[in-house]
Amino acid sequence: MAEKARIAVLISGAGTNMAALVYASRIAGCPYEVVLVASNDPAAAGLAFAAAEGIATFALPHKGRTREDHDAAMEAAVLEAGAAYIVLAGYMRILSDGFVERWAGRMLNIHPSLLPRYKGLDTHARAIAAGDSHAGTSVHLVTPELDAGEVLAQIAVPIAPGDTPESLAERVKLAEHQLYPRAVADYVSRWRDPAALLARVRALALALPETEERESHGSPGFRVGGEKAGRFFAYFADQHHGTPHISLLARTGSMDELLNLVESQPEVYHKPAYYGASGWVGIILNRPGVDWDEVAEWLARSWRAVAPKRLTRLIDAADAF
Ligand code: GAR
Repeated sequence: MAEKARIAVLISGAGTNMAALVYASRIAGCPYEVVLVASNDPAAAGLAFAAAEGIATFALPHKGRTREDHDAAMEAAVLEAGAAYIVLAGYMRILSDGFVERWAGRMLNIHPSLLPRYKGLDTHARAIAAGDSHAGTSVHLVTPELDAGEVLAQIAVPIAPGDTPESLAERVKLAEHQLYPRAVADYVSRWRDPAALLARVRALALALPETEERESHGSPGFRVGGEKAGRFFAYFADQHHGTPHISLLARTGSMDELLNLVESQPEVYHKPAYYGASGWVGIILNRPGVDWDEVAEWLARSWRAVAPKRLTRLIDAADAF
């Protein structure tokens, strides 16, 4: 099993979601471990829980500090703990843009509503006042705009007759305790999940003009140029021929180029069985920190190498414009 992803959990209060994350991490096979629990409130009940569990804690009141200074101290503690992800669990502070941007794609939050509904505070009271049949909870990526990042997972929770914001909050928390550990586990495993990687490659490949997906020898392949005359420009290879790699196969210019890539960056490129003989390179996708802009460039370049002239001419003209 791959190394566990190290996560830091930031809390302001009871920390019941943090506790759910901690106990889920103790189940065999969980892909993450909680290496730090940090709070802006030294009296947060969750800190005592974390300490009793033998987890490192850090607390620093925000009062009397600028937002930037307080965020910087929290971030320093997270880095010191060696965390690769920040998981916000009832952390009731707005974060500075710089902090959020540095952790883009590596910071998650749980919010007690069915986003995009009811961003911000008092979500339960607002859902009840609106007469909604359901409230709920959402796990989302954190972006500078409040509660607006990509939603990763949700559970809807019915609003019962006579519910108060408090009774509803309690029921929503039960759902949150199931949702958050699963969503975090899935997210930190995304880089080695073939279905998630294929979905990403597919979205990039099919965004290129006149591209279609067609299976080839059991692998998803991407072609350009129409039904009959079309040619493949990329394949998605999931651990073919005994390699541990999940990779995108793309066309290089020459065998020299292929061998140079593999020799100079063996963690990024490999020479695939069979296809390598005709100059196809494997770009390894099941590793943390894949540069997806680079993957998109490989797809575009490979597409251009086999796309009919009538299409490349249009693109050249657009580029020159
Ligand atoms: C949770 O319900 C969480 O969704 C919410 O605070 C509660 C924290 O409870 N978060 C927000 O409102 C964020 N805007 P907990 O401390 O028991 O985990």
